[in-house]
Amino acid sequence: MAMVCLSDFEAHAKKYLPKIAWDFFAAGADECSTRDENILAYKRIHFRPRMLRDVSVMDTRTKLLGTEISFPVGIAPTGFHQLAWPDGEKSTARAANAMNTCYIASTYSTCTLEEISAAAPGGFRWFQLYIHRNRAVSQQLVQRAEALGFQGLVLTADLPYTGKRRDDVRNGFRLPPHMKLKNLEGAFEGDDCSEYGLPPNSLDPSVTWNDIYWLQSLTRLPIIIKGILTKEDAELAVRHGAQGIIVSNHGGRQLDGGPATIDALIEVVEAVQGRIEVYLDGGIRKGSDVLKALALGAKCVFIGRPALWGLAYKGEEGLQDVLKILHDEFRLSMALAGCASVSEIGRHLVQFSKL
Ligand code: FNR
Repeated sequence: MAMVCLSDFEAHAKKYLPKIAWDFFAAGADECSTRDENILAYKRIHFRPRMLRDVSVMDTRTKLLGTEISFPVGIAPTGFHQLAWPDGEKSTARAANAMNTCYIASTYSTCTLEEISAAAPGGFRWFQLYIHRNRAVSQQLVQRAEALGFQGLVLTADLPYTGKRRDDVRNGFRLPPHMKLKNLEGAFEGDDCSEYGLPPNSLDPSVTWNDIYWLQSLTRLPIIIKGILTKEDAELAVRHGAQGIIVSNHGGRQLDGGPATIDALIEVVEAVQGRIEVYLDGGIRKGSDVLKALALGAKCVFIGRPALWGLAYKGEEGLQDVLKILHDEFRLSMALAGCASVSEIGRHLVQFSKL
């Protein structure tokens, strides 16, 4: 079967992954309204394309906190990559490096940070942190990531507790016994690790904005806050010294009924006023979605599930295929909208449907 667009990889993953893994990747919270809204919301946005603007030479490069990437799409942090492909996060690191983009490695990786670094030396990576009740565990992870050359710390803010994903409950989802949350090995020795490979209640739900200061005391890495959806929280992120925001609703896996991320992006960008970089994840399935997000002020977007579908297809090669397709579609959308470089993309390029 020719793999032409990201939906082809989704269909392949659905057909070939074990049901329990497919359900875990696909899951949204409750009725999955927010998960589905993330995708539907793009259809309400239309382009105002410009013509006759010499698009013979195209430049899709951009910079994330000063580091150049080949095009404005990175890999969002997702857990358990070995559920998709035996080499897990090592394959993800290699594919992101080959495509010269940013990979945000999850706290819940099934390979160690050391293995991820060694798989693609010199690759551009950020580390995503969940803060655990056992703060020493989190502190050690941050410092390990910094020592290994990760260039940013992404604090996920929207998961004080795990959202209710009905299919995971029905399936009694657990990590297969041969897979481990490798970065936390030893941290919960002797505990019952029945909940997503962790003891129940291991995350710290008491985290507040003040903990950003705690993180700043541990590391010199720039801090990016993931999971912001309102102008109020965007302002707090700026005031607490974050260097970036990822507008995200965790792929609709946390609070069901919240906004699509592309809709929330608008108020966040307006509040931030260019003081720090704003990124987005959720529902990016086509190059034209990337263009819409950039037109509305995102500096870059990240893909979650499509990266997992790529891995499930052919590991590193499959993820590279997904990224190449998105890159080609993005370049084409830019050209057809009359933009030869990323700096020409702006708010003038889109309008909202009146329906
Ligand atoms: C996630 N996400 C996530 N986020 C995070 O900060 N740490 C994590 O470990 C995970 N794990 C995870 C697993 C799976 C299977 C999914 C689908 C998602 C959320 C992820 O970073 C991102 O916000 C969404 O996946 C983006 O939406 P799309 O691209 O999947 O629509």
